[in-house]
Amino acid sequence: MKRTLSLSREKIHTGSLILVNSKHRYQETLKTSDPLAVLIPINENFPAVKLQRRAVVLLTSLMKEISGWHGITAVSGWRSFQEQEQIWNDTLREQGLSFTKKYVAAPGCSEHQTGLAVDLGQKQKTIDFIRPYFPYSGICQKFRSKAAEYGFIERYPAEKEAITGISHEPWHFRYVGAPHAQIMVRNNLTLEEYISFLEHFPRGERAYKIQSRNQQILISYQKFIPDSAATTLMIDSGLPCSISGNNTDGFIITEWK
Ligand code: DAL
Ligand code: ZN
Repeated sequence: MKRTLSLSREKIHTGSLILVNSKHRYQETLKTSDPLAVLIPINENFPAVKLQRRAVVLLTSLMKEISGWHGITAVSGWRSFQEQEQIWNDTLREQGLSFTKKYVAAPGCSEHQTGLAVDLGQKQKTIDFIRPYFPYSGICQKFRSKAAEYGFIERYPAEKEAITGISHEPWHFRYVGAPHAQIMVRNNLTLEEYISFLEHFPRGERAYKIQSRNQQILISYQKFIPDSAATTLMIDSGLPCSISGNNTDGFIITEWK
C-alpha cells in the first residue's frame, strides 16, 4: 500500500538535515508542529541548555553508553537570534572581527538557532564559552568516536574551513540523524558537501543505498518545484520514512525497507 505525502515550500526549512550557514539562513519564524522538534533542556543539570527533543533523546543515550556526563559539560545549545546577536557583538568587542568571524556565526546564520547543535566541553574549573576545550583524547574522544552512531557529527572539522566558513571547532556537534551522520563520517563530508552530494540521487531516478543490519536504507533528493505534483510523494505505508528539508531548495527522503 502506498500513501501520499505533500511537501509544502515552508517544509524546506525544517528537519534534522537543514543546512544553516552564512549562505543559508535559519528561517526562525517558522513554527513546526513536529513534537520531536520541540525545544527541551538536555537534562536537569543543564536547565538552560536546550535542544530539539530528537537531539536530546539521542544525546542522552550516547552519554549513558559512555558515562559521558561525568567528564563532559553542556556549554551551549539552542540560541535565539537575539542571543546569537549578543554573542556576536560581545565577541566582536572583546576579540575583534577576524576572531569573531572564525568562531561565531553571524546572527541568523547559526546552527545554534535550530536547536540541533550543541557545544560540549571537558569538565574543568573554567570553561571558555566561545571555544570550550574538547580534546581528541579521553572521554571527549570517546564521545566523538560514538557520535555518528547516534546521529551527531563534528560540524566544523579542520581542513574544511573553506567549505564551512567556520574555523575548526572540536566542541561543536550537530544532530543530523541516522544514517546520515555515519555516511558523512565514512566519506569525510561536511553537511555542505553531503547536501550537494545527495542532489545526485533524485527521487524516482536513483537512490543512495546503504545496508544497515538486515535493513536497506534508501536516501533520495526531491527538489521543490512550485505548482508541480513533484512535491507530492508516494511512499510505502507501513515502512519507516523520514523527510527533512535541506534549507536550500528541496527535501531529503530516507526510507527503511
Ligand atoms: N560557533 C558557531 C559557528 C556558531 O556561532 O554558530
Ligand atoms: Zn557551537
